[in-house]
Amino acid sequence: MSKSKNIVIGVSGGIAAYKVCDLIRRLKDKKFDVHVIMTRHAQEFVTPLTFQTLSQNPVHTNHFELSQEKEIDHISLAEHADILVIAPATANIIAKIRTGICDDLLTTVVCATRAPVVVAPSMNANMWENPITQDNLKHLRQLGYHILEPESGDLACGYTGKGRLPETETILSFVQKVLGLKSPSKKK
Ligand SMILES: Cc1cc2nc3c(=O)[nH]c(=O)nc-3n(C[C@H](O)[C@H](O)[C@H](O)COP(=O)(O)O)c2cc1C
Repeated sequence: MSKSKNIVIGVSGGIAAYKVCDLIRRLKDKKFDVHVIMTRHAQEFVTPLTFQTLSQNPVHTNHFELSQEKEIDHISLAEHADILVIAPATANIIAKIRTGICDDLLTTVVCATRAPVVVAPSMNANMWENPITQDNLKHLRQLGYHILEPESGDLACGYTGKGRLPETETILSFVQKVLGLKSPSKKK
C-alpha cells in the first residue's frame, strides 16, 4: 500500500474558515495525513478543537509552543509536508507571503518549506480586486505558488462578486492535480 500523503492546511482569518471542516473530512476520507496550522485570527472563526477532532492530529497555533517532538515545529511541519494548502487565504496572509514576512507559525512554515504551496484566496470582492492583492498574487504565481482562484457569487459580507472560497471538491481536485505535477520553480 502506498504511504499516505502528508498535507499541511494553513487556515487564516477569513469567514470561509468554517468550510475547511468539510475539506479536512474529505481529505481524511482520501487517507491524507492532515496537519492544521491556524493563525491567531483564524481562531476567531473556528476553534482549534474542531480541526483537531476532524484531522485527528494536534492543531498548531503558536510559533513558540512547547512540542513533544524533538524537532522545532515549523521546521518539522515544513520538512514533512508533501503539500501545503492555505485555505482560506486572507489578503493579509497573501501580502505577508509575497514579502517574505515570517511573523507567525503559518508564514514561517511557508517560508521554510520546499513542498508545493497552494493558495486559495477568499475575501470581499473589493479586497480581491484591489491592485495590491492582484499584484501580490501575480508575483506569487511567477514564483511557482499554485493559486486557486475564488469563485463569484453572493459573499458573506453582503457583496456580490468574486471572492468565494471554491467548493470542497474543487479544492480537492486542485490539490490532487498539484501533487501530480513536478515541483514549481521555487523548489530549485
Ligand atoms: C467578520 C470578519 C470576516 C473577515 N473575513 C475576511 C475574509 O474573508 N478574507 C480576508 O482576507 N479578510 C477577512 N477579514 C479580515 C482579516 O481577519 C484580517 O485582515 C486579519 O488581520 C487576517 O489575519 P491573518 O491573515 O493572520 O489570519 C475578516 C475580518 C472579520 C472581522
